Amino acid sequence: MWDVEKIRQDFPILARRVYDKPLVYLDSGATAQKPECVIRMVDRLHREWNANIHRGVHYLSEETTEMYEAARRDIASYIGAAAPEEVVFTAGATASLNTVAYAWCEKHLRAGDNIVVSEMEHHSNIVPWQLAAGRKGAELRVLPFDDEGRLMIERLPELLDDRTRVVAVTQASNTLGTCPDLAPIVEMAHRAGAIVVVDGCQGVVHGGVNVAELDCDFYAFSGHKLYAPTGIGVLYGKRALLEDMPPFLGGGDMVDRVSFERTTYAPVPLKFEAGTANFVGAIALGEAVRYLRQFDLSEIEAHERALLQRATEGLMQIPGMKIYGTTPDKCAIVSFNVEGAHAYDIGMILDKLGIAVRTGQHCAEPVMTHFGVTGMCRASFAMYNTLEEADALVAGVERAVRMLK
Ligand code: ALA
Repeated sequence: MWDVEKIRQDFPILARRVYDKPLVYLDSGATAQKPECVIRMVDRLHREWNANIHRGVHYLSEETTEMYEAARRDIASYIGAAAPEEVVFTAGATASLNTVAYAWCEKHLRAGDNIVVSEMEHHSNIVPWQLAAGRKGAELRVLPFDDEGRLMIERLPELLDDRTRVVAVTQASNTLGTCPDLAPIVEMAHRAGAIVVVDGCQGVVHGGVNVAELDCDFYAFSGHKLYAPTGIGVLYGKRALLEDMPPFLGGGDMVDRVSFERTTYAPVPLKFEAGTANFVGAIALGEAVRYLRQFDLSEIEAHERALLQRATEGLMQIPGMKIYGTTPDKCAIVSFNVEGAHAYDIGMILDKLGIAVRTGQHCAEPVMTHFGVTGMCRASFAMYNTLEEADALVAGVERAVRMLK
């Protein structure tokens, strides 16, 4: 049994009150709260270890470097990478996806090629590919989803051909909650000769990942959604692909030899880590992963499923309720609108009740366009939410709708 009250003790912010009401934090899809051990690690790093990594011969630098590389090893093992060298630290998922879209496409994308993205992607897994396609004269093709929010994988064969270079897809939609079955996508894309780039931002949190089993070529996620600080993220890439890919940013730490005539690069992953790395963030992300490792991920998943079910069943009782994304494979994200009430107004009233949700387009405007709406309310759950909080959401939305109608 998942002891949620015990877990909540690990997250100090959950004891906060807002507007003199207990905080009900249902916006973990935007950023998750941080456990005490991560907060303490950031604090201790600045008090006890702070020194630049990979540069000093002195004691502190050696210690911090070892902590940074230990974080890389722990994260590699957490996501099932074959080796720590396949884990590149970046500023976040957006930086990870832009790195591939720029550097890999610089070498491999040609005029007349095409890139397939799904219709349910976050902007950060659309726009970098659009930019790459624009630079190279390639075409962007879209794999649609149906009105339940199911990705129409059966339509993929008609989009793939021998000029498809990349298939970019999410592991879990940040808006619909849909977790598409990635195995057939990877299989079909590889058969067509394309690489598969997976946005794992929500997926790595809800259910985790084994990148080796998934056999994707690149996988991106952000630390701040995985209970770590902002400004740190990961780009996983198969080693051969990382080795073959030209660098994205040039600078210190990513080089082997530099002269005005010729520069050679450091081996992966350092080739992609130009400049002083966010070693505080990386070490804190390692700590978040070690925190998560003590739990059985399937228990977290079961708890989150119960939260989703409770919230969904309650919300469905509200007249005029429309939930976007109703596939059985959903993670704990529920986006909705109520007829006659604006999403923003519902969000504002919920806020005054102490309930934090996200409203708007959720950086997924094509999803809004699909449903012909300008925005949605979104509640996103995490392992520290309670069934009472799911009930508070439902009661809050009921109250908001009564006020607005
Ligand atoms: N991508 C984050 C979200 O879905 C910010 O809210």
